[in-house]
Amino acid sequence: MKKLTYLIMLMLGLLAVTFSCRQKVSVDSDEQKIPVYLDESKPIEQRVEDALSRMTLEEKVKMCHAQSKFSSAGVPRLGIPDNWMTDGPHGIRPEVLWDEWDQAGWTNDSCIAFPALTCLAATWNPDMAALYGKSIGEEARYRNKNVLLGPGVNIYRTPLNGRNFEYLGEDPYLASRMVVPYIRGVQQNGVATCVKHFALNNQEKFRHTVNVEVDDRALYEIYLPAFKAAVQEGKTWAIMGSYNRYKEQWCCHNQYLLNDILRKEWNFDGVVVSDWGGVNNTEQAIYNGLDMEFGSWTDGLNEGASDAYNNYYLAAPFLNLLKSGKVKEEELDKKVRNILRLVFRTNMNTKRPWGSFGTEEHALAGRKIAQEGIVLLQNRNDLLPIDFTKIKKIAVIGENAVKVMTVGGGSSSLKAKYEISPLEGIKKYVGNKAEVVYARGYVNDKLRKKDNIKQDGVEINDVIDTRPTREITAEAVKAAQNADMVIFIGGLNKYDFQDCEGNDRKELGLPYGQDQLIGELAKTNKNMVVVLISGNATAMPWVNDVPAIVQTWYNGTEAGNALASVLTGEVNPSGKLPFTFPVKLEDNGAFALGEYPGNSLNVKYNEGIFVGYRWTDKQKIKPLFAFGHGLSYTTFTYGKASIDKKQMVGNETLTITIPVKNTGIREGAEVVQLYLSDVESSLPRPVKELKGFEKIFLKPGEEKNVTFTINTDMLKYFDDKQHQWVAEPGDFKALIGSSSDDIRSTTDFSLR
Ligand code: BGC
Repeated sequence: MKKLTYLIMLMLGLLAVTFSCRQKVSVDSDEQKIPVYLDESKPIEQRVEDALSRMTLEEKVKMCHAQSKFSSAGVPRLGIPDNWMTDGPHGIRPEVLWDEWDQAGWTNDSCIAFPALTCLAATWNPDMAALYGKSIGEEARYRNKNVLLGPGVNIYRTPLNGRNFEYLGEDPYLASRMVVPYIRGVQQNGVATCVKHFALNNQEKFRHTVNVEVDDRALYEIYLPAFKAAVQEGKTWAIMGSYNRYKEQWCCHNQYLLNDILRKEWNFDGVVVSDWGGVNNTEQAIYNGLDMEFGSWTDGLNEGASDAYNNYYLAAPFLNLLKSGKVKEEELDKKVRNILRLVFRTNMNTKRPWGSFGTEEHALAGRKIAQEGIVLLQNRNDLLPIDFTKIKKIAVIGENAVKVMTVGGGSSSLKAKYEISPLEGIKKYVGNKAEVVYARGYVNDKLRKKDNIKQDGVEINDVIDTRPTREITAEAVKAAQNADMVIFIGGLNKYDFQDCEGNDRKELGLPYGQDQLIGELAKTNKNMVVVLISGNATAMPWVNDVPAIVQTWYNGTEAGNALASVLTGEVNPSGKLPFTFPVKLEDNGAFALGEYPGNSLNVKYNEGIFVGYRWTDKQKIKPLFAFGHGLSYTTFTYGKASIDKKQMVGNETLTITIPVKNTGIREGAEVVQLYLSDVESSLPRPVKELKGFEKIFLKPGEEKNVTFTINTDMLKYFDDKQHQWVAEPGDFKALIGSSSDDIRSTTDFSLR
């Protein structure tokens, strides 16, 4: 009996083991059979189709609109994660509450604030753009964001646009060359860039309503090239529509811009994201190229209807149309395909790196970019760098020497891990070589009032000052009298109507009485340096009264150190202006023709292709400081440009070489600029256009040859009648120089 029981138990045991093994085997084989959409060895399109085929109508619709201020739903049932967006473009925005603009109060979301994009453009160094992209991409990745809302590439059309500081200047070629490495740097982290704001968002005034009338030549030659480069060369995975209208349609759902140009002409296969609150109509949102709707019923900044997500144009109204059969599911599938592609490229890419956040390495990257972007506009008597054998006492004057600049400006506002102010930087770099005293000099309107030291709902360390102007000025003048040198630090700030989203500036002049103060200080102390911090050109009525002028930008975490390193000569400035500084507003094409800001419903770009230096060249207007201008503490001598052949036939290329020598005693960098000029053409063309540049680093006495290759594409204009780019045979000139108004050598060639 015992034996029998033993046998039975043995058999049962064996059965159990066999069964469990079977179970195991079948579980294993199930695990091995990975669904196609999760199989990273499969082509992405196959994965997209597979995922799509598994999704319900409701799941698909949910992917097309926001579920919180900055996220949209994934498909939890299928393991497809949510999409998480972040501003952009200068650092990773602090977390906000799910359904509120208020900050969430995290204690681990203080980022490195990188320099504003105007600074990046002013480096004229694509390597800096790559470093910027890599660093900010790592920060975004660490914070688990898969879409960075930036960079911005809207062309600088007028110096009053409140958002110019977030863009890459006035020239389509410069902006194109700088945006591509930025995108690649970000996306190598498995984070998508969302290049914005597509398109023609060149003013903040009336941004939610204005229709832009622009001719096709200006559209294709000036306003679109940076976006095209972002799509075709940078391969951006996302693009953001703009608030304004074009051809009477909102740009976030615009047949011409999104379907015809972006998708058909440029073959964009990424996601079109709306600007926050930029969607206005369900039918157009369905058919005119939009994929993801964000921020409806908000102004994108601080207004917002609560929990409105189910009412979004692409939420319940879209679902109902699909369910009733009025809209075909294929329309939905087109969008979801794009979104799935985004997800596979970013947060479902298991091989993407982990990122890093708030690191010293990123802070130093920011400092380096800032150092290369600071522009020395004027330096009479070699006042800079500071000569400590003569200068023993320095008066730093001006509010921007102490003002917090990483906060404010709208959606690009940041919570920085730290921010070195110019005064702190100067004190550190000067050390015990000289005494540094500080006087406020002027106070902006906000900080005059005792009660207002909050920006974007966050308390900041800005210092209020309620003393009467007289007293504040007198203190500054006295400080100037008693010092060997004055460093005035002013410019604009990131308050409304300055460099700030939502509104434009009201004037070209400096605010808060700075012009008068600079005038007085210049009379008091001849050794005066004016440092302007801004993202826009400003008027300088005192330009002839001060020997040295430095243009710097919102340079983020390391702003003060970067500035001080340049003022003290540790770093030799090498930035060049990415936009023209006009003497007065009327020297800008849009103003001269009365075509800015238009009315709330319409603005005409009647200056056409003549934007920035293209306008001043055409009208023979001398700018205050020209596009491409920027001095160094050393001197560069240009030799004669030589050309390998005088004629290009068909698609041939030719090369131009020019020797450039550092003839001073310091090492330094020069941006050698190539402009092309079409001597005669059937359509009007700019006097010259930037078509190449190279930043070279030279030791004292060192000489380098800079070579530019010219191809027919560089000679083309956009023929609006034929709707194509045309290189017209004839004579051309290549002008090589140190800025757009300082051409050092010219050579002729022709296209046959
Ligand atoms: C801005 C965008 C920004 C978005 C989200 C909008 O107001 O125009 O540039 O990315 O808000 O903050």
